[in-house]
Amino acid sequence: MAHPNLRDVNAAPAADPILTLSGVHTHIGQYHILQGVDLVVPRGGLAVLLGRNGAGKTTTLRTIMGLWKASRGSIMFDGRDISKMTTPDIARAGIAYVPESMAVFSELTVRENLYLAARTGPLDAARVDWICGFFPALKRFWNYPAGNLSGGQKQMVAIARAIVEPRQLLLVDEPTKGLAPAIVQSLMAAFRELKDTRTTILLVEQNFNFVRSLGDSVSVMDDGRVVHAGLMHDLAGDEALQQRLLGLSLDSHQ
Ligand SMILES: Nc1ncnc2c1ncn2[C@@H]1O[C@H](COP(=O)(O)OP(=O)(O)OP(=O)(O)O)[C@@H](O)[C@H]1O
Ligand SMILES: [Mg+2]
Repeated sequence: MAHPNLRDVNAAPAADPILTLSGVHTHIGQYHILQGVDLVVPRGGLAVLLGRNGAGKTTTLRTIMGLWKASRGSIMFDGRDISKMTTPDIARAGIAYVPESMAVFSELTVRENLYLAARTGPLDAARVDWICGFFPALKRFWNYPAGNLSGGQKQMVAIARAIVEPRQLLLVDEPTKGLAPAIVQSLMAAFRELKDTRTTILLVEQNFNFVRSLGDSVSVMDDGRVVHAGLMHDLAGDEALQQRLLGLSLDSHQ
């Protein structure tokens, strides 16, 4: 069922968005990549960002985190403009980011990777157990260097790092890439439970089957802009709209 905050995504701005990008432009060197991104992430639930390769999805997440600086526009997070803030300050404000390339410290153990990700002190044992319930491999390799793990296991460590403490907003870039189907199922369960906590998730994903049942709202990017925003329920039930917005690029993932 759609989150109550999402009812009006198509018709009017959500009443209480946690994140709003308005007219965001990003230049990377001489290239003008984001060309006026308008994106609303309703508070609570899971927002999906779709779009073909090169549409600007990763650049959008990096711009939110301050890893690229917006050259124009505003990024409002929980009532304040974060577009001029440094990345550490944005993280401290309550946004966690799982990049496409799994961000783990190879020489450190799984435990140490999680420990370093905890900002407020020692690890919360109950929360670690909850996370390891989704990803039992983490417990198995608890004292092994993360660099020795497989790609899928590193992805689990990266996601565990991002959720080791409650965060207001979690940005995740293509988490299912290269994962075995069983792990994708665990990931889906983890996101479902996170949705029931106070964490809002903005998920970039090419695997439409993965997000069609998980997503509450959906935005589609093309050529550095958001070209569609609405409820996932509406897009999932409308094959003509899927074809028009997502074209053939998603068919290969179904
Ligand atoms: N460091 C960079 N230098 C120059 N151009 C870049 C850089 N990073 C990204 N781009 C360009 O910006 C555009 C958007 O890239 P981005 O990585 O945001 O796309 P994406 O939607 O995440 O694609 P994918 O689905 O392939 O991950 C692309 O044309 C890409 O070539
Ligand atoms: Mg990308």
